[in-house]
Amino acid sequence: RDLPPTPLWGYGGSSPGPTLQTARGEPLLVEWINALPERHFLPIDHSIHGAERSKPDVRTVAHVHGARASAGSDGYPEDWFASGHSAVYHYPNAQDAATLWYHDHAMGITRLNIYAGLFGAFIVRDAEEQALGLPSGDCDLPLILCDRLIAKDGQLYYPVSDDPAAPWVSECNGNAILCNGKLYPFLEVEPRRYRLRLINTANTRFFNLSLSSGQPFQQIASDQGLLPAPLPRERVELYPAERADVVVDFSGLDGKSLQLRHQSEAILEFRVRDRGRRDTAALPATLRKVERIDQGLAARDRILTLGEQDDAGGRPMMMMLGGKHWSAPITEDPRQDSVEIWSLVNVTGDVHPIHLHLVRFQVVERRPFDLFAWNASKTLKYTGPAQTPPPEELGWKDTVRADPGMVTRIIMRFEGEPGRYVWHCHLLEHEDNEMMRPFQLL
Ligand code: C2O
Ligand code: CU
Ligand code: CU
Repeated sequence: RDLPPTPLWGYGGSSPGPTLQTARGEPLLVEWINALPERHFLPIDHSIHGAERSKPDVRTVAHVHGARASAGSDGYPEDWFASGHSAVYHYPNAQDAATLWYHDHAMGITRLNIYAGLFGAFIVRDAEEQALGLPSGDCDLPLILCDRLIAKDGQLYYPVSDDPAAPWVSECNGNAILCNGKLYPFLEVEPRRYRLRLINTANTRFFNLSLSSGQPFQQIASDQGLLPAPLPRERVELYPAERADVVVDFSGLDGKSLQLRHQSEAILEFRVRDRGRRDTAALPATLRKVERIDQGLAARDRILTLGEQDDAGGRPMMMMLGGKHWSAPITEDPRQDSVEIWSLVNVTGDVHPIHLHLVRFQVVERRPFDLFAWNASKTLKYTGPAQTPPPEELGWKDTVRADPGMVTRIIMRFEGEPGRYVWHCHLLEHEDNEMMRPFQLL
């Protein structure tokens, strides 16, 4: 049609960028080159990281979400580089098979850079997974989901606040859902099993995914790889940055079409066409052992609040972690190879998907607490029993839904190279506005 094209940024000339595929123990070197134009095409508002406004508009650094990389290759937000510069990062991939993704992580501007298109899938495979005979080859596909605001003239639109008391928008929900960068695309599939790697790369939106036929599918993996066993599901909820690998069986559906949906909105159409191939894929009854980390091993249980208004007066609204700004001295300083429990105390009215770099973790429990008691005296008073994680959270995670009114407890072993990493809320507007903290692996 006659609409002017909208600018979009990408990796290797496309958005999403190319799917990077590797195997456990096969190291990968990537030179990330900033070849972006001099100016951003999205409006840069008065975010809390206003200090960053004295820096070039266009700066980027790449992070592989879920990768166990050393600090110098992890995409620390302040390691950004300007247009015309590059960085060589090393990914050892000494980790289990999983669906990861890569994206921009530049300080204070990640929400705009990812929104502009800087993201892609990163797949790690391994021999154990290979031996399971799961759908593979052209029957193993990443489905990268996000939403965008598309204006009437077809341009990508990012909202700007006109309220001086709240100079940044705290969320950005789109009017269009994109799958692999396209608006309601179709995919020809054969009447056999497929492995679909669902990745939520949206700034703010959570997805509630199902098939229009209502048929169940099997969830086989979450953020950090395989679940203990396939889990039959009719819907999957994904908060920003979460992943779920599902196996969908299209057999017996020759000639039919069905849709992948978010609530009642169609995202992707599957057209089933028989091309005479036999389905040789298997779905074993068990996938892998996920041994629970013994809570008795925890050297620390850190109580960390999610979201506190700054009470310094006259300052713009903000969200913080542990009541601290990004630039406050480091407080989270786990020792290498130690086990810690982090109790995430959500004192806001919203869900925050919390992500830690470098490590994978397990969800221990969620437990309701008394917000008034907390606000009055900073004492943690539980008001109900602990809820153990549902089966879809019994695998390894790197991003966890922290519900309002709940203490969400996670446990992890801090394996990796000593250095400085980050943990943050993966609602990108929050992340860019103080809901991110460094942590130091000692
Ligand atoms: Cu998806 Cu700090 O990253
Ligand atoms: Cu990450
Ligand atoms: Cu948040």
